[in-house]
Amino acid sequence: MVSRTIPVDPFDLVIIGGTGDLARRKILPALFRRFCAGQMGEGSQVIGAARTEMDTSAYRTMVEEAIAEFGGDEKSSKAKLKKFIALISYVTLDAKGDTGWDELAEAVKSEHVRAFYFSVGPNLFGDLAKRLQKHGMADDLCRIVVEKPFGRDLESARELNKVLARHFDESQIYRIDHYLGKETVQNLMAVRFGNMLFEPLWNSQYVDHIQITVAESVGVGGRGGYYDRSGAMRDMVQNHLMQLFCLIAMEPPAKFDPDSVRDEKLKVIRALDPVTPDNIVRGQYEATETKPSYRKQVENRDSNTESFVALKANISNWRWAGTPFYLRTGKRLRERASEITVIFKDAPHSIFEEDSGRHRNILTIKLQPNEGIVLDVTIKEPGPGGMRLIDVPLDMTFAEALGPDQAEFPDAYERLIMDVIRGNQTLFMRGDEVEAAWAWTDPIIADFERGDPPLAYATGSSGPDEALALIHRDGRAWREIKA
Ligand code: BG6
Repeated sequence: MVSRTIPVDPFDLVIIGGTGDLARRKILPALFRRFCAGQMGEGSQVIGAARTEMDTSAYRTMVEEAIAEFGGDEKSSKAKLKKFIALISYVTLDAKGDTGWDELAEAVKSEHVRAFYFSVGPNLFGDLAKRLQKHGMADDLCRIVVEKPFGRDLESARELNKVLARHFDESQIYRIDHYLGKETVQNLMAVRFGNMLFEPLWNSQYVDHIQITVAESVGVGGRGGYYDRSGAMRDMVQNHLMQLFCLIAMEPPAKFDPDSVRDEKLKVIRALDPVTPDNIVRGQYEATETKPSYRKQVENRDSNTESFVALKANISNWRWAGTPFYLRTGKRLRERASEITVIFKDAPHSIFEEDSGRHRNILTIKLQPNEGIVLDVTIKEPGPGGMRLIDVPLDMTFAEALGPDQAEFPDAYERLIMDVIRGNQTLFMRGDEVEAAWAWTDPIIADFERGDPPLAYATGSSGPDEALALIHRDGRAWREIKA
């Protein structure tokens, strides 16, 4: 890959929950890749902290195993791995007691930027914040990183914000939504605000509707316990889809800086209309011959939690009134394919008599896999026989347009962790934004709880048929779920 690595000063990253799944799968491999890219300055350290009693040497072995399993291409670099492992240490730490805190305070360097990654349940955030302060680690050089779920409703999110605000300034709190670290999600802003072409048309006068699909082919896997208490609405819509929605719908921020961007996103969420039950469909996947059903996987025979949601949302503002946004996400769907599609209105009048077709410009931003941007344009079908029109894609799949080297993107966590160290909050959620997202989501979830159980859908399908009907009744159709 072409390296455009910007070096940063040495820093300390403390992973609280350092033996957990997220640390092993994402945080540690991401750090290793940044280390290989030369971005971890000499003297930086990574400190794993958790309740499990173990020493540094056992923790280092665990990290090596995690990198072997999840480290991607870089894992083969033995020499680099050895150097990286040497930066790692471990502290046994009790979030609710005194064990380990003095040791941790001793291990971190007072002159370094210090990031504490709370890779633990939100019930521990308050205890951790309090003890970081008590042990003198919460000064200006300190940043805390918190994972989703940030609460499970507006009330709990408010409470969490309050608890954190007792010990930290908002500028020190990094609420992660890893979708914001995805390269193509950032590209969405580049496409919108770096080109003259799109922005003048980006409104209800020219855009018929917008679709956002985040489809997964996997089921809930080993996370049944967590997932069954959350469901697709809390797990995906309130955060990831909401962030995509905001970026596609927001007004141009004056600058690409944290508060300018987050102010605009917040305005979108606040302008969202409530979603009525007739504008939402939820589903739950069934078993196949080889794969268990949702209920079996979460070990809850009566579960009414949704693994699929499709909904129609409207924004009441000058730019978007009259243009619906259709969102859907689900597990065990036909493919892993996520994209945002902007479907422009028909040309007002056709001058070509021979042509009876319907032609539309469609802009597709493919988030994953095969990241890229495709613009469908209408041209003349080649050859004699008059002016018959066809739609062809102007395809900028990044791997083809940029070459495979440059289209190999860093993992979202690499980008986001380094942004924490650099002190750049643009791609992190602000407290008021998270609360506004819950304020919109809460009534929808309350309707779920009062309403019918989710509809069954087949593994490998596009979700329940009713989700197709949701958009058909408006004379529109979902885009095919296709990688
Ligand atoms: C997580 C959700 O935040 O995002 C998971 O908790 C989901 O349920 C995952 O599978 C999807 O992320 P990605 O990056 O694979 O699209």
